[in-house]
Order: sequence, then C-alpha cells, then structure tokens
Amino acid sequence: MTATAPGKIILVGEHAVVYGRPAIAAPVWQCVATATIQAAAPGSGCTLYAHDTGQQLRLGEGLAEEPLAIVARLALAQLGLDRPDWQIDLRSDIPIASGLGSGAALSTALVRAIFRQAGCEVDPATLSALVYESERFYHGTPSGIDNTVVAYGQPIWFLKGAALQPFHPGCALTIVIADSGVRSPTKETVGDVRTGWLQDPARYEAIFDAIGETVVQARLAMERGDLPGLGALLDANQSWLEELAVSSVLLRRLIEVARNAGALGAKLSGGGRGGNVIALVDAAAVDRVCAAFTAAGAARVLVTRIE
Ligand code: PMV
Repeated sequence: MTATAPGKIILVGEHAVVYGRPAIAAPVWQCVATATIQAAAPGSGCTLYAHDTGQQLRLGEGLAEEPLAIVARLALAQLGLDRPDWQIDLRSDIPIASGLGSGAALSTALVRAIFRQAGCEVDPATLSALVYESERFYHGTPSGIDNTVVAYGQPIWFLKGAALQPFHPGCALTIVIADSGVRSPTKETVGDVRTGWLQDPARYEAIFDAIGETVVQARLAMERGDLPGLGALLDANQSWLEELAVSSVLLRRLIEVARNAGALGAKLSGGGRGGNVIALVDAAAVDRVCAAFTAAGAARVLVTRIE
C-alpha cells in the first residue's frame, strides 16, 4: 500500500500567521513524500524505516518524542489497531528543515498509507488534525498551515482557528523555488520571533498587522490578475520578514539575483534563515530566473504552478 503527499510553499504571511493573521499557501507536487506499507512476519510488530534520515523506529518502544512514531500511533489508535505486523517505509525528496513542509508531508503520507492499509481512506480534516500533532514537535507552536495545505493538497487561504478556505488565484501563477541548501529548523525561527514579541509586543504586533494587510492585498491582486502588483507585495512581505530577523545574507542574495533576472517579486518562504526562496515570474523569465538561481549557488531549483 502506497500513499504520497506534496511539499508546500507559503506564498505570503508566514510567522504573522502564528499570531492570527491570514496567510496563503499552496502544495508543491514537484517534490513529494511517499509511505509504503507491507505485511511483516506474524509477531514482528510495526517497524517504521525513515530512509532519508536513516531512522528505524519500532512502534511501542518509548519514542514519546518522535513525531513520526507519535502520528503513526495516533492513526492506528483511531483505527482501533494496536501495533499490527507491518513494515512501513518512508521516503521523501523534499529537503528537510527548508520551509517546504517536509515534516508535514512525511506525516501526511504516513497517515494516509496507514488508513489505506487498514482498508479505508482518511478524510482531509481528520488527516490534517492528526498531522498537526506531529507538527507540534517540529514547530513548537505551529499555526496549523503546513498540515492543512499538505493534507488538503490544494491552495488555501489560512487563518488559525477558522474553517478552511480553499483558494484559487484568479490567474495561474508560475513560481520558481530555490533551495539555499542551508537547513534551518522552523522551531528556532518561530521561537526567536516569539522571544522578540514577548520583549516588544507593540513593535511585533505592528509588523504582523502589516504582513496581514500585505496578504489581503496579495489576494486582491491575484483576483485582479495583477501579477506585477502581486510581485511588489511579495517584495513588501520580504521587507517585513527582514524586520522580523528571519532572513539571512544568503537568502537576500538569492532574492536579489531573482529580481535582477526579471522576477516580478521574490521572498523567503517558510521559517526562514535558510531553506527556500520563491520568485514570481512570467513565462518569459522562467529560464532566466532558474539559471540565475543556479549560478548563484542554489542547491536545487524547482518550478511550480499555482492555479
Ligand atoms: O515549516 P515552515 O518552515 O514552512 O514554517 C511554517 C510557517 C511558519 O509561519 C513560520 C510557522 C507556522 O507554524 O505557521
């Protein structure tokens, strides 16, 4: 039994979304996590092999702090199963700790495969809620945006605690994604933003408001089909992320080369300090922006479309 789940990008609104402002995210099917389950010898129990990290987890042996084991146990409990004799293999080509939602994608593929192996399909709301439990370990205080966009597998307008709103931009967007190659755990940047917010709530609330307004304007720009306007809003969002101190010299450099190569706008995507940047491009600039990212040393470049 096999199941997959996509990576994701946050188009606008990361970090402020943790503090109740809206954000827009979309799945990235060009990179995926895959879970495969097969029956194992009777009495052998349930073992999970996470091939990308070399982890081997035997369910039922402690592992209280291990996100994949936690989410597997929750899914099995929901199905009324107690450690079936299964071998679970997890693989992913989504870079880890890079803002592309690799943790949420692995958990999503895992839960989906567990339900399929038990003979049923998990609905997206249940799936998202289960994956949220593992996100708490990756993120500390997750907004829930990653598990939602990955579990539903479609673009979303996300507001913490509100009912999910699927989102379709009025026009197709072409996004070039470049991996800086630097891993940066989301837990750390989210934690640092929280520390800053606790020290100076007024300043941080004002920045979160400005990001929230940028997200609202970005939605309007998409609905108008105004790609240059949307590009300028991505740039504005990046400026606010700089204010939150979640950017880096390398991310700034990648963003600059994309803009110089003709991108309509560019920003970091996800937790920041490392991970991926995204650039909004029109069809004529795709190859130029990809080449510019590669020349600037990006570890990997992907092109995705949001529609
Ligand atoms: O998993 P990442 O690095 O894409 O970060 C998710 C976005 C944040 O807003 C930084 C955190 C959150 O929980 O929303």
